[in-house]
Amino acid sequence: MASLRELSEKRGVRFGCAVSVEALDDPEYVEAVGRECGISVAENASKFGPLCPSQGSHDYSAFDRIVAFAEERGMALRGHALVWHTQTPKWLGEDLPVREILADHIEETVGRYRGRIESWDVVNEAVADDAGMRDTIFLRSLGPDYLEWAFRIAHEADPGCQLVYNDYSIDEVCPKSDRVYELLSDLLGKGVPVHGVGLQAHLELSNPPNMDSVRRNVRRFRDLGLQVLVTEMDVRIPEPFSQEKREEQGRIYEEFVRACVEEGVTRILTWGLTDRYSWIPGFFQGTGEALPLDSKMRTKPAFEGLTRALGESTG
Ligand code: XIL
Repeated sequence: MASLRELSEKRGVRFGCAVSVEALDDPEYVEAVGRECGISVAENASKFGPLCPSQGSHDYSAFDRIVAFAEERGMALRGHALVWHTQTPKWLGEDLPVREILADHIEETVGRYRGRIESWDVVNEAVADDAGMRDTIFLRSLGPDYLEWAFRIAHEADPGCQLVYNDYSIDEVCPKSDRVYELLSDLLGKGVPVHGVGLQAHLELSNPPNMDSVRRNVRRFRDLGLQVLVTEMDVRIPEPFSQEKREEQGRIYEEFVRACVEEGVTRILTWGLTDRYSWIPGFFQGTGEALPLDSKMRTKPAFEGLTRALGESTG
């Protein structure tokens, strides 16, 4: 059977997943990701904190391992995430010159991989759940123009790279995605080099998005001239797990990915590939089994749903 990589590439789409550096020691994992993925992103290794364990120096060894893994297999790469309020360096505080430190970090990191990373999540999750701007160390230290500032620095460091704003719960039309839409329209109006919006798509079996609304949402961002990417998809199942729920999950994967691809999304990434390695059980207690392969690396209805959605001919 054709892999998700082959099926998607036939129609000009790249499917892939987040890669965890710890899991690269697992040969079954390496085989599965190598087979199915045409694009990858580091699950943690390219975040600010992991890259900057101590002030004034970067440690790129873990991310380099993922970059080498991807390049050996001809996979495209995404970078994630330059400006994010979570997983910042432990030593970083508002008493320090945050602007200089962050500028150095963006310049050095984006510059180091210049020409090798097709897109970077420059700003991640800057909008709060109530659709206001999230109160973060970056907003407090740099002021509300920090997004514009960060995109410009990243663009200078790698002018050919696609620069993305990434967030969760913006998959359909809702107050939070309205806010992101306004934010990005504003940035584009000022000539800021922002090229894409990443829909994280951390979906819930018990509360799936309305697919017509997803389509309208993708369309409105594309009408602004932005690329739309699905950057971190998973569909968490509440316990107890059952085959019936897995089948429902398969339908959500299929319908969501079909809606996005039909509306012109050409990058579909899941947040991991196998339930053997997934952030979901640790972060959303009482849920799990969110990914296309099970913990024994067997395909699930979710995988079959992806196969159908990605394998359809464009007619
Ligand atoms: C998660 C990772 O999967 C975990 O291993 C880590 O402990 C916390 O971060 N949105 C994002 C990702 O943008 O970076 C997060 O990844 C999941 C939610």
